[in-house]
Amino acid sequence: MAVNSTKVIWITGASSGIGKALAEEYALKKCCLILSARKRETLEEVAEYCRKLGSEAFVLPFDLYLLKNADEIVSRALDFKGHIDILVNNGGISQRSKVMDTSLEVSARIMDINFFAQIALGRNLLKSFIQNGGGRFVVISSLSGKFGFPMRSTYAASKHALHGYFETLALENYEHNVKVTMVCPGRIKTDISLNAITGDGASFGKMDEGMEKGMPAKVCAKKIIRAVEKDRREVYIGRKEVLMVYFKKFLPSLFFNIARKVDPSK
Ligand SMILES: NC(=O)c1ccc[n+]([C@@H]2O[C@H](COP(=O)([O-])OP(=O)(O)OC[C@H]3O[C@@H](n4cnc5c(N)ncnc54)[C@H](OP(=O)(O)O)[C@@H]3O)[C@@H](O)[C@H]2O)c1
Repeated sequence: MAVNSTKVIWITGASSGIGKALAEEYALKKCCLILSARKRETLEEVAEYCRKLGSEAFVLPFDLYLLKNADEIVSRALDFKGHIDILVNNGGISQRSKVMDTSLEVSARIMDINFFAQIALGRNLLKSFIQNGGGRFVVISSLSGKFGFPMRSTYAASKHALHGYFETLALENYEHNVKVTMVCPGRIKTDISLNAITGDGASFGKMDEGMEKGMPAKVCAKKIIRAVEKDRREVYIGRKEVLMVYFKKFLPSLFFNIARKVDPSK
């Protein structure tokens, strides 16, 4: 499915990193954009840039944490153009703490933002997708959605949960032309580690060495758009770290021995 100007694309987490890069790439394709995150002013700047590139852009700020009014937010998003073609479930936070050091409250917060808010938006939008003859969820998971990784216990759990939920949604709604693309990035150079939370909920506030050397967000965004155009159900984006998906699947002992020794900041 090639994307053109008739497409309405809603991107959460559009104020930074992968979401912002996706907004800019879709703007070049003259799509109509709905941009969400918490920071209204930053979203306005992204929207202004997208308009300069020739797209229409509507800013819809909200907090994914403890999201109670997903139905109202979805209906405000639908009001922009009357329909939505693609929801990119991208907004999220990461974790930098071991299991023993992570409080249940912090785990619940990560699950709320990375999982419950995503399914709340998805479930509310599904009805409109069905009424309009179809639609697509682009779910930004992670390589940590395919295997566990030190210092990412609940983050990995939240991303694994997205796979179970959205794969089921795709199976149940195949006849309605509702599609799902699960995106599993590896190390992409964004502020994700700076914005990650530690075991007591404090901000981690440091750029991981591995992230610093990661794939540029713009390259990642182009690969995501390509995967959508090729109607891919699942895509892994990154450099050599992507090999770990295949080690986990075909050489699980090798995977375990590498992953347990990895320095999670590199
Ligand atoms: N970078 C990587 O290496 C990598 C790897 C695998 C997966 N991912 C995934 O990619 C997605 C985007 O991350 P990124 O790397 O682009 O990180 P980022 O630069 O930190 O961007 C995160 C985005 O999510 C939004 N966000 C965070 N908490 C939110 C909340 N409570 N309510 C609403 N919006 C919220 C942020 O906007 P506000 O602060 O304005 O709310 C921001 O726009 C995430 O789902 C992440 O798990 C990233």
